[in-house]
Amino acid sequence: MQGRCPCVQTRGYNASMSVPTHGVYVHLPWCAHRCHYCSFNVVVERDPPQAAYTQALLQQWAGIREHFPAPSTLYFGGGTPSLHPVEQIAALIEAIAPSGEVTLEANPGSTSLDKLEQWRAAGVTRLSLGLQTFSERYTRFLHRQHSAEEALELLQAVSEAGFASWSADLIFALPGQTLDELDQDIAHILASGAPHVSLYGLTAHPGTHLGNAVDGGRVQLPPDEDWARAYAHILDRLQSDGLSRYEVSNFARPGQRGLHNEAYWRAQPYAGLGAGAHGCLPLGTRTLGVSDPAAFIAGPEHYESWETPDPEQRALDLLLSTLRHVDGVPLDRLQALGFSLDRRALLPHLERGTLRERPGRLQLAEAGWTLADGLTRACASALQSSQP
Ligand SMILES: C[S@@+](CC[C@H](N)C(=O)[O-])C[C@H]1O[C@@H](n2cnc3c(N)ncnc32)[C@H](O)[C@@H]1O
Ligand code: SF4
Repeated sequence: MQGRCPCVQTRGYNASMSVPTHGVYVHLPWCAHRCHYCSFNVVVERDPPQAAYTQALLQQWAGIREHFPAPSTLYFGGGTPSLHPVEQIAALIEAIAPSGEVTLEANPGSTSLDKLEQWRAAGVTRLSLGLQTFSERYTRFLHRQHSAEEALELLQAVSEAGFASWSADLIFALPGQTLDELDQDIAHILASGAPHVSLYGLTAHPGTHLGNAVDGGRVQLPPDEDWARAYAHILDRLQSDGLSRYEVSNFARPGQRGLHNEAYWRAQPYAGLGAGAHGCLPLGTRTLGVSDPAAFIAGPEHYESWETPDPEQRALDLLLSTLRHVDGVPLDRLQALGFSLDRRALLPHLERGTLRERPGRLQLAEAGWTLADGLTRACASALQSSQP
């Protein structure tokens, strides 16, 4: 998933050497149908022009690659990338030629054993599985295209396929979901030995089928206390099994963090290719691709927007991307933009144990992990110019 990126080029940035410096995100927008909660830039089309789209992606990459001379990660997101022809995935990997992790989002129902093998041969090193739930009731509620059984089959197949890494996406805080039901979902994930888990509380975005149902009072999402109880429960189960939290929604076994997404949370530059994709050039310019795939195919050299935000916006974006990550906000990078955080304004949060200070960093403290959005707003309010 993509966030906004401040892309501050900072001299002396000393994050771990294994951290990628340039990522490439490729958006593949087609889905077989639209899930009820989905707010992504997705098109449902019977016979999508995938070959023309792939050509347009290659053309767009040729126009922007000078900014990303040595890409280290590549991420195919969607949409449903597992519906994209494998030979076109292979052509994109060959053209972009990342030095490290290549991730592809794969959904049950559009992933076969053959495809797993072909992706591996094409250079995909990591799969992100859109499993969401193993409950038939909630699979239907979410209006997924696959059955709960197919989700289980995919989990089983991938755990045996020998990928260097893979991740399981789970949605929790479903209306009426009990801790026992949640436990069953987690048990399946843990039994598979998943190296990485991403978990998201169900969110009702405006304009989606779910958003309309919540607005109309036909569906009620769990209250915040239930959400926090479910999150704490999952945290406990995953940590007891050896998975560590390194971002609000992301857990990994040692050495299994998602390097591409981790670069977003460290606010590093990345190219955004395809319809509606966000990107961030090394010197801070933000790009946004045209959202309509047909318009993208007609002119991949055009962008919906291409702009360099002012330092204050970049500082705000830096807070937004980095506070959610275990490393927290790098204060030297705020300083490089001419900003600092007013400590007095943050004191109540520091005293309450929701934020904590570490040398050169402001981080979420134990009690703050479920309050990341509110704490980001608090940090944004505490932002002050450090210019004399
Ligand atoms: C970029 S999406 C993956 C899209 C992929 N086509 C799929 O459906 O699995 C990454 C993850 O975000 C989560 N997600 C998307 N929309 C959500 C929502 N409204 N509420 C909670 N989680 C959501 C899902 O777990 C999804 O797998
Ligand atoms: S499969 Fe994923 S991207 Fe497609 S409609 Fe469902 S949630 Fe959205």
